[in-house]
Amino acid sequence: MTSKHKLGFIDSELENLKKQNLYRKLRYGVSEGSQITINKKKLLNLCSNDYLGIITTPIKISQLQSSSRLVSGNDESYKKLEGILAKHKSKENSIIYPTGYMANLGAVSTIAKKGDIILSDELNHASIIEACKLSGAKTIIYKHNNMFDLENKLKLKGKNKFVITEGIFSMDGDFSRIKEISELSEKQNTITIVDDAHGDFVVCNDGKGTPTYFNVEKKIDLYISSLSKGLGSFGGYIASKKNIIDLCINKSKSFIYTSALPSFLIQHSIKKFKSNREKQKRKLQKNTKQLMKGLKQIGFEINSTTHIIPLVIGNEKKSIEFGKFLMDNGVFVQPIRYPTVPKNQARLRISVTAWLSDKDIQRSLRIFEKSFRKFG
Ligand SMILES: Cc1ncc(COP(=O)(O)O)c(C=O)c1O
Repeated sequence: MTSKHKLGFIDSELENLKKQNLYRKLRYGVSEGSQITINKKKLLNLCSNDYLGIITTPIKISQLQSSSRLVSGNDESYKKLEGILAKHKSKENSIIYPTGYMANLGAVSTIAKKGDIILSDELNHASIIEACKLSGAKTIIYKHNNMFDLENKLKLKGKNKFVITEGIFSMDGDFSRIKEISELSEKQNTITIVDDAHGDFVVCNDGKGTPTYFNVEKKIDLYISSLSKGLGSFGGYIASKKNIIDLCINKSKSFIYTSALPSFLIQHSIKKFKSNREKQKRKLQKNTKQLMKGLKQIGFEINSTTHIIPLVIGNEKKSIEFGKFLMDNGVFVQPIRYPTVPKNQARLRISVTAWLSDKDIQRSLRIFEKSFRKFG
């Protein structure tokens, strides 16, 4: 008698991913400035989220915390950074989570509950989708940036109502229609949450982020963000009213039941925050303009208006081949496929950084031009 191996279903699932060109495997690279070395080959890195490329002097690695924040893993550097971040977002207080992903999970599931309604943009990041599920609230997806759909769905009744959107959409590089969203929310007495992981530190004066850029920062009830992208450090945080922060400290599981980030990372964030971010931001803006103009001249269809520039290919297999072609020619851009983006909307997601020199951009454009004939 043959019995099926109890882990056979795992192999079937992996096989299935391979058949659909959706299988992922890890690459090992060493990053240095605008370059990344993979398999001993130096490549131009066009998929780093270290947008500002801030250089700071190294921080001495202190003893690693051995506990969660509420036990013994807390020190004054946390208090200092949380004060800085609250001011940065013009909010009463802020709290740091180990990652932006955990900030979404923890904060959304703390304030939204069964009986509530969350309206969530269809292109919101996986951490927002998971956070909504975890909350137990009824999640209603509205069409991407579609205010007509949102307005209609905002009429639905729930105990408490929330709307959640990204500030800059991570895979499309477009801004959310945050002004209209906050106005509609206000009319319907809805709590407005913005995950600005890709706009924070990068957009607006002093990198205040997307809502400030659109002049609606006062209408945002809860900010969620990452310290691992624009700031180029590590961690996540939320900023809001004191009572929301207090409730998250008391009830947010991804804050309470996990070890604190080591203090040297917090000190690193403070150092990066206090650096000359404006100079780096100007460089990023210049690089974005230059690369975007060049790509459009080559013939690529670009809908983004920010430092995230997707070249949408559609077919998954073709996107892998495109990525490989670029890599063979010295440029690293990772193909992005389902479920990160919808099926048949695979893309090469270029992220511009201030690390890139004019020469780097010209070199990459020559390679993109070569690739356009094959994949454009
Ligand atoms: C919109 C958005 N939110 C949250 C996160 C998670 O942030 P972190 O990398 O700090 O976990 C990401 C990361 O890609 C993101 O794109």
